[in-house]
Amino acid sequence: MKSLYRTAIAVSLALFAPLSFAQDAAVIENCNGCHGDDGVSQWSDVPTIAGMPEYTHADALFFFRDNERPCSESEYRQGDTSRPATTMCQVVADLDDATLEDLALYYFELPFVAAQQEFDAGLAAAGKAVHDAECEKCHSDGGSNPDDEAGILSGQWMGYMKNTFAEYASGAREQDKKMKEKMDALSEADETALFHYYASQQ
Ligand code: HEC
Ligand code: HEC
Repeated sequence: MKSLYRTAIAVSLALFAPLSFAQDAAVIENCNGCHGDDGVSQWSDVPTIAGMPEYTHADALFFFRDNERPCSESEYRQGDTSRPATTMCQVVADLDDATLEDLALYYFELPFVAAQQEFDAGLAAAGKAVHDAECEKCHSDGGSNPDDEAGILSGQWMGYMKNTFAEYASGAREQDKKMKEKMDALSEADETALFHYYASQQ
């Protein structure tokens, strides 16, 4: 399914690039109401989406629209905070494919900014060893390389990472089979160490 989406996106980008984002301005303002200015989040439970690899981002939005990925209810964090709380699934429910692809490209071109957050240096060092042994193959350069199309782990918010690990562990969020083997083999101590390692990359 993912590869089908990716093919469709690649074809449409090739046919229609460069894209105009004028019509998407209101949508972007809505996204930034939770994800922060230019997609750089200031809130630990909300991921930074600036610099997110574009096909991974588009896939995520398609999954949310199809209700195939868990989406928790969230308040707006800035702008008009009287807007009612909503979920990622509801936010993209009425957006068409082209708009979701525009959004993925738009945010990919904005610079990722690592979250400023606390971490324990000893745990971070232990986490680096776990990452290098188990995760670096697919999440290269410490989980910072967008070319992997595997999300950005390095400098992402710890609250979001913890929620994501829990969604993978419960099976609520689908994951790559080989990644699942690695994730299932992690001890609780390994997981904690990984959270501190990713948080330490600032
Ligand atoms: C009401 C708050 C809110 C709004 C509005 C919102 N998001 Fe989100 N978004 C979240 C939260 C919270 C998460 C973390 C996952 C979850 O709990 O659903 C998330 C997760 C994501 C993810 C997954 C990131 C990853 O690394 O896999 C993407 C991509 C995303 N949002 C993009 C967008 C885009 C694009 C828009 C605008 C169309 C948007 N969001 C609007 C709150 C919001
Ligand atoms: C075989 C390749 C592979 C391995 C090994 C792997 N991953 Fe992944 N990972 C991926 C891919 C591909 C994605 C993007 C999944 C998607 O599009 O939903 C991903 C996504 C993630 C995400 C979600 C990122 C986001 O933005 O929401 C986290 C967290 C993650 N991986 C952590 C890990 C950790 C920790 C390890 C090592 C224990 C690991 N992965 C090992 C391929 C891998």
